[in-house]
Amino acid sequence: MLFVTSRTFFLIKPDGVQRGLVGTIVDRIERKGLKLVAMDLRNVPEETAAQHYAEHAERPFYGDLLSFITSGPVVAGVLEGPRAIEAWRQLAGGTDPVEKATPGTIRGDFGLETQFNLVHGSDSEESAAREIALWFPNL
Ligand code: PPS
Repeated sequence: MLFVTSRTFFLIKPDGVQRGLVGTIVDRIERKGLKLVAMDLRNVPEETAAQHYAEHAERPFYGDLLSFITSGPVVAGVLEGPRAIEAWRQLAGGTDPVEKATPGTIRGDFGLETQFNLVHGSDSEESAAREIALWFPNL
């Protein structure tokens, strides 16, 4: 079956960058067959972090989430391919690196705590469109 090409947004969070896992994570993306259409290393302005995680504003961990994502450089990027949203979430693994992510996934192989779960991926077409527009307005 053929699938229509779609795009998703990804982050390698500050823990992934600090731990020197950018190359390993990008290698997994490329080996899966997803195409990198944008990618750069950047510090996250408070305003961008707040907009990105706006849907979680009422969650108890919202403050921790914002402090963490602005604590050091991230790699932000856009991936393209058939079922790109699902494919990237499959590579990333579940949110909790121990209880949800399975071995073989990025979080399952390299993570221990939910707050420091290495990567982010859009969870729907609507989120992907919103996040790509926020982080890469010229794309
Ligand atoms: S999901 O997949 O949206 O249902 O995941 P969810 O559990 O709702 O989490 C949303 C984002 O919040 C992060 N998170 C946390 N950060 C800090 N502390 C705690 N306890 C915590 N729980 C969840 C989680 O990693 C998700 O971030 P992103 O960047 O979207 O993956």
